[in-house]
Amino acid sequence: MTHNFFESKVAVITGGSRNIGKAVATALVEQEAKVVIGDIIDTEGQETIEELNSKAGKEVAIFQHTDVTKYKDLTALFQLAESSFGGVDLVFLNAGIAVNHDVLLDPLDDEQDEKILKVNTAGIIKGTKVGVRHLAKRGAGAIVITGSTLGLEPASYTSIYNASKGAVIAWARSFQHLQNICSVRINSVCPHAVDTEFLWGFPDLSRKIFEGVAPTAEISTVVKAVLLLMEDQNRNGQVLTALPGNVIEVEEAPKIMAKTTQHLGNIPLVSPEVISELEAKYKQDFDGMMKSYFMQ
Ligand SMILES: NC(=O)c1ccc[n+]([C@@H]2O[C@H](COP(=O)([O-])OP(=O)(O)OC[C@H]3O[C@@H](n4cnc5c(N)ncnc54)[C@H](O)[C@@H]3O)[C@@H](O)[C@H]2O)c1
Repeated sequence: MTHNFFESKVAVITGGSRNIGKAVATALVEQEAKVVIGDIIDTEGQETIEELNSKAGKEVAIFQHTDVTKYKDLTALFQLAESSFGGVDLVFLNAGIAVNHDVLLDPLDDEQDEKILKVNTAGIIKGTKVGVRHLAKRGAGAIVITGSTLGLEPASYTSIYNASKGAVIAWARSFQHLQNICSVRINSVCPHAVDTEFLWGFPDLSRKIFEGVAPTAEISTVVKAVLLLMEDQNRNGQVLTALPGNVIEVEEAPKIMAKTTQHLGNIPLVSPEVISELEAKYKQDFDGMMKSYFMQ
């Protein structure tokens, strides 16, 4: 009998009321996991969990209104997962928006210009910080961050959306060391355009797509990539694209440091002693951070 990795696991999902987030929640419940969904659209969120619970015939899904731009909401969501289902093993940070995606020519408006960064970038950073603490408390876990192919290959006319997603791809690639410290892995999934309401945030692109001109990726391809990143212990700091034609590919980061080291005749850019010192200090700071977070 093959072991089901997802059985009895608890997943927190942001932006899980509909479309990609809902599809991942549904796939996880089908694999016998439990899900805690946080989103700002409450009616769809309630409908989603009622659908999941009635299909399962027991409580396997909970919804709580959560604005990912607010620590207060995020911490409450993770605490709810702990009090209801005993802890958190998996996190899917998926909430995102496309409004005001190309601000260069817009009026100089602080609030409007920062809106997309608050949700797509700061929302992911805050969700990661809270998530890491709860996964480390559990002893291990995986976080998957929703980026976009536009964050890897920026297109014209979607400038600040590209930047908001490029930032979280770099963020997701920044934590390979965490696996040794607390057994938490952070990876990113980067979908190509998927045919959801989200695309209406990009009027020109969505017009083309709904006219059938541009190919889209299937939601099922995104789900497959997310579950792969959650389950496979060898994936750490990895970026997977989810592309049309059910294609999933690893997108490697450029190897600039390695190439520079090579050009210099293989002299390391940072000495191994400095690296060990930094690692020891980081481990100490990590333990201190855990104590102070859970003492509050
Ligand atoms: N659909 C695409 O073409 C596409 C392509 C690449 C990446 N993505 C990314 O995939 C993710 C999901 O997209 P989708 O297509 O399912 O779109 P969607 O609009 O259906 O899903 C996004 C969800 O995030 C929620 N959300 C928005 N702001 C929030 C906030 N402040 N706090 C909590 N939740 C919030 C929305 O209510 C919604 O349920 C997004 O991050 C998006 O950027 C989508």
